Amino acid sequence: MAELELSTSVPEAADDGVWLACIECGATYAPFEGVIYTCEDCDGLLEARYDSYPTFEAFEGRGVWRYAAALPFEEGVSLPEGDTPLHSVPRLEADVGVRTLRIKHEGMNPTGSFKDRGMTVGVRVAQELGVERLACASTGNTSAALAAYGARADLETLVLLPSGKVAAGKLAQAGLHGARILEVDGNFDDCLDIVQALAERGEVYLLNSLNPFRLEGQKTIFFELLEQFHADEGRYPDRVVLPAGNAGNTAALYKALRELVHAGALAPGDVPKITAVQAEGSAPLVEAVEEGNDDVERWSDVETRATAIRIGYPVNARKALPGIHATGGTAVAVSDEAITEAQRALAEEGVGVEPASAASVAGLRKLRESGVVNEGEDVVCLTTGHLLKDPDAAAAAGTAPESVPNDADAVLDHIEGRRRSGSGGLLGRVRRRLG
Ligand code: F0G
Repeated sequence: MAELELSTSVPEAADDGVWLACIECGATYAPFEGVIYTCEDCDGLLEARYDSYPTFEAFEGRGVWRYAAALPFEEGVSLPEGDTPLHSVPRLEADVGVRTLRIKHEGMNPTGSFKDRGMTVGVRVAQELGVERLACASTGNTSAALAAYGARADLETLVLLPSGKVAAGKLAQAGLHGARILEVDGNFDDCLDIVQALAERGEVYLLNSLNPFRLEGQKTIFFELLEQFHADEGRYPDRVVLPAGNAGNTAALYKALRELVHAGALAPGDVPKITAVQAEGSAPLVEAVEEGNDDVERWSDVETRATAIRIGYPVNARKALPGIHATGGTAVAVSDEAITEAQRALAEEGVGVEPASAASVAGLRKLRESGVVNEGEDVVCLTTGHLLKDPDAAAAAGTAPESVPNDADAVLDHIEGRRRSGSGGLLGRVRRRLG
């Protein structure tokens, strides 16, 4: 667990106990004097650091800002976000075969994904820096969140999206909240290259997860999850399973755990195993874990039904991979079919999620079947986005509508006929299988 340590020796660059540190060379930077995303010396990723880290007792209030003691500001541009449910799913738990399975449903945030937690902090930092134009590349959810939080803060917002690869709900959100939507003939990674180039030229303030303050907000998912799980079960989970695209959330989970261990709030033996899941068609992080590498190779061709995680170059890999290793976790790739099956299984418990979210459950199932996860484990799966984000995927995975005559008797005949035809139950059993 050596890698779980954090230094708190305060550099000159610190502003009110907060600074940025390069994870590669240790160079430190003032956080709010000018705009900086990566290390000026070695281009390494930057991480926010504080002169002290709180224990659970320091947390008060609700939502993301309950965790202000672990954030750079006391409050932010809030809609508000956080306070998401930790569902129990008894049938799925029994079916997967673990001691405890809980679902932390981040789709219940204001714009329907966990990105809101990063944006409430990120847009607050943008205000501090006095920037005027916000931008991100996105597979959809980041753009929806940025559009909403940018609108709330009355700032201009640009979003760059891979043309034809963003789910309908997300595109509609970005548009209605007034972002300028720029569709690029390329994939997410190409969009990020462009936004990074614009940010380097000072044209936009970048709010992708390369921005270290986004991850500070996303840390709160895991503070909240641990508090909720502990309140219900009197212990901490053995494993947290989450979908990974850019691996920003994976990195945020590791940061939350390091901070809690540093503060003495979490014993090193209680640290959950970080378990990242990708779609088979876009799994560079899984490849790096399998090959024991400490960085990823960029995949130029990526494809998956889980468009949110259709990403070939996880920019936060250098932050996330040490977390997977240090906690004894792993990474696993799942098929699109397994993702859809998991989406249905969650829906059968009343939990509606978008495909990328269901990857966490599909990954857990696969790891349980292969024996990597054992039956005695307490597991939390993160579901990152709401079902309505991708209505087309939901419709394709669910029961198909049936036309019926405009007459009660005929409707009853239709229902009875279907029942007699032995299609396996009254409701919810006839599926249009995607194959
Ligand atoms: N799940 C959903 C629903 C997402 O939208 C994303 C990322 C992830 C998981 C993966 O999170 O990148 O931190 O590993 N969506 C980004 C976007 C890329 O643009 O909305 P990550």
